[in-house]
Amino acid sequence: MRTWKRLFSCLLAGAMALSLAACGGNDSGATDGQTQEQAAPPADTGADTAAPETSGEETTAESGNVLVAYYSATGNTENIANYIAQATGGDLFEITPAEPYTSDDLNWSDENSRVSREYADESLRDVELTTTEVENWDSYDTVFIGYPIWWGIAAWPVDGFVEAN
Ligand SMILES: Cc1cc2nc3c(=O)[nH]c(=O)nc-3n(C[C@H](O)[C@H](O)[C@H](O)COP(=O)(O)O)c2cc1C
Repeated sequence: MRTWKRLFSCLLAGAMALSLAACGGNDSGATDGQTQEQAAPPADTGADTAAPETSGEETTAESGNVLVAYYSATGNTENIANYIAQATGGDLFEITPAEPYTSDDLNWSDENSRVSREYADESLRDVELTTTEVENWDSYDTVFIGYPIWWGIAAWPVDGFVEAN
């Protein structure tokens, strides 16, 4: 079993290109302190950022065994997670709410939508997940965590995964 573990928390909002160098260089840990408040979130672009053909051999040697855990409601974070997993040779773990968010649930411009109600009342943000257990968790040296930004903070379905692990 490894005696140390580094946890990189990388904001993966939208089609934002996330540089591995930027994440790898920040050993201070979580970066979810993004304070940018935004009344009207940008429209989802559904960007099709297919993972390129790359070898993860060099980065794997530096980062050890890599896990890329992510929550993605509309696919953007998933695309970036695939990209990082491919570039690092890492394993993927999808964080999935027991009750997935529908497009109506995600309608931030409707104050009665699920996500708007959860945003307005923090006590509603404890989202049940299908599982938080990662097989062979102790074998990972580096864990990337990807999530969308919702109203300037990490989308809360990721919280239960972080707390459990
Ligand atoms: C409810 C909601 C709130 C959002 N709030 C923000 C925000 O404050 N700032 C921002 O840049 N994008 C915001 N967005 C846009 C998402 O972060 C962006 O579309 C992201 O790529 C979605 O990732 P996903 O496809 O993996 O779910 C918001 C989207 C939703 C659905």
